[in-house]
Amino acid sequence: MTNVFIDSDMSDAERRARLYAGDIFLFTPTDTTRELVALGRTMLEEAFAPLDPRTIHHHKTAEEVAAILSVLKPAFIHHPECKRLLPQIMAERGIDLEKLYFDVPRMRSAYPSHFLSSGIAYAFHPHRDTWYSAPMCQLNWWLPIYPVDPNNGMGFYPRNFTDPVANNSEIYNYYEWNTKNRASAAQHVKSDTREQPKPQEPVDGVNLRYVPPPGGIILFSGAQLHETVANTTDLARYSIDFRTVHLDDVAGKIGAPNIDSKSTGTTMRDYLRATDLAKLPEELIALYDDGSAEGDKVLYFGDRLAKAD
Ligand SMILES: [Fe+2]
Repeated sequence: MTNVFIDSDMSDAERRARLYAGDIFLFTPTDTTRELVALGRTMLEEAFAPLDPRTIHHHKTAEEVAAILSVLKPAFIHHPECKRLLPQIMAERGIDLEKLYFDVPRMRSAYPSHFLSSGIAYAFHPHRDTWYSAPMCQLNWWLPIYPVDPNNGMGFYPRNFTDPVANNSEIYNYYEWNTKNRASAAQHVKSDTREQPKPQEPVDGVNLRYVPPPGGIILFSGAQLHETVANTTDLARYSIDFRTVHLDDVAGKIGAPNIDSKSTGTTMRDYLRATDLAKLPEELIALYDDGSAEGDKVLYFGDRLAKAD
């Protein structure tokens, strides 16, 4: 069973335990989250000016949009206001920032499905982030920038939190992916040939779509089966997401149960402490190493920033 909590004020420890058990938390917007989405919105509107970013597919080619996004998305990641607002958003949720590590915030885009659904605006099939080398304790935070529609937002398959899905996540090694594929995302405009972990059987569980307002948050375990809904509306969807891990859970190897994830490598080197952007201690990262991190295959944070999608 999945419980969905709205604006719950339970402690962070209790909330994490519930998230690892498959529960989902929704939060209504705060001044801080409104500021974050306003930043994203301003950057989008400047990048596509004088056109509306939500209808840009009527005015520009897929290649032109991909070229603009390839500048805009890293600029958002690097924006100093993001680094200020993210810790504040997490502090508002009662989290001890000394123990919280986060991955850089991403801006995502989902265009009407015929337009630009690969490469830099990849439309994700149902997946767990843990199929992509995320640890079982990773939590995902997702915020829409503009009003979302059920048909251009995020979909969840809550039953599959406990029901395994046949998948080929064993093909995914995080270090290999970074080395080979990430840098080339902007080139995959029309079709995406990069091999990704996917379900190997039809996913027929209940598909649930939460539709928060701009600046609202969906908080869920990285082990939830979720997807970018194929956008059947005529408006582009833009959203912000980031991922976090808690030091105590990293150290204790606490998290969601692993029911079907077989990816190798770990994203543990990407998370930065919310207070001072320090990395996790090497001895804790070592708990998650599986022998696939060899020599120069491991990309550190700075390398990823340079190539971030
Ligand atoms: Fe995901």
